[in-house]
Amino acid sequence: MKIAERIETTMAAAIASGQGGIAPSKLAAALEYAVTPGGARIRPTILTSVAMACGDDHPALTNTAAVALEVIHCASLVHDDLPCFDDAAMRRGKPALHLAFSEPLAVLTGDSLIIMAFQLLARTAPADRALALIDILGTRTGMPFGICAGQGWESEDQIDLSAYHQAKTGALFIAATQMGAVAAGQDAEPWEELGARIGEAFQVADDLRDALCDEATLGKPAGQDDLHGRPNAVAALGVAGAVSRFDDILSGAIASIPACPGEAALAQMVRAYADKLVPDGARSRRTVPGE
Ligand code: IPE
Ligand code: IPE
Ligand code: MG
Ligand code: MG
Repeated sequence: MKIAERIETTMAAAIASGQGGIAPSKLAAALEYAVTPGGARIRPTILTSVAMACGDDHPALTNTAAVALEVIHCASLVHDDLPCFDDAAMRRGKPALHLAFSEPLAVLTGDSLIIMAFQLLARTAPADRALALIDILGTRTGMPFGICAGQGWESEDQIDLSAYHQAKTGALFIAATQMGAVAAGQDAEPWEELGARIGEAFQVADDLRDALCDEATLGKPAGQDDLHGRPNAVAALGVAGAVSRFDDILSGAIASIPACPGEAALAQMVRAYADKLVPDGARSRRTVPGE
């Protein structure tokens, strides 16, 4: 089965499990709205690719880990779009959940999905690996190393930019590589660097997309960094500089892949995905004089 099919099948079953019984119908519908159609599904794809590179001896556990991670990501987007955070009207090409449903339902959808992610893992075997997965996902979701910490930086008077990006964006990529390894019975620690580097590269690509793409292409508001005066790679380095920074980080990421049976295939997958992250116009603009 292809990776995308593994993720979507497992995701559909997970959401159905949250909609059973005498569940309130609007919240049940909102759960599905928050996770489908998906975005790039980059985090669960990386997780599954790492697990496959490490042998993937418990594919059902890998699938559950991948979906638990993506469910946390989707929850973070629902909360991030709320008026009290970014007040964004569009997400993945459709109205943000709080506009399609309501603010209370958006808060509850995020909460329900976060709880669902941990419950999915708690119900999966083998238990020792499931427990380690719960620990990693918790670390990269909460305080002080997770996306809660990342979002928390936005309420500080002085932002530590590197800590902010590491927690807001990098954390779930570290979770992706480490959870992939653990799902396949390997140690988490050697996989932290790959996740951190992919997260850093992703942040630079996200800055490029925000600067160069329009809302129709992104499926969410564009030009946000400029609008909110947020420090970003394009403002700091220009388009060409940001593209070469992206390439440098990517080379480092590939070089950091720990020795494993599927090392070459994993490197190829990281390269193929990275190509898709940089917007079309960015590379051609490298040759524009004065950039
Ligand atoms: C968006 O992540 C949030 C950031 C951390 C910048 P993605 O760009 O992976 O969003 P989807 O899942 O593809 O919509
Ligand atoms: C959203 O970050 C990611 C998290 C909630 C952790 P941003 O606010 O920077 O990303 P977009 O532009 O809304 O996807
Ligand atoms: Mg935000
Ligand atoms: Mg946002």
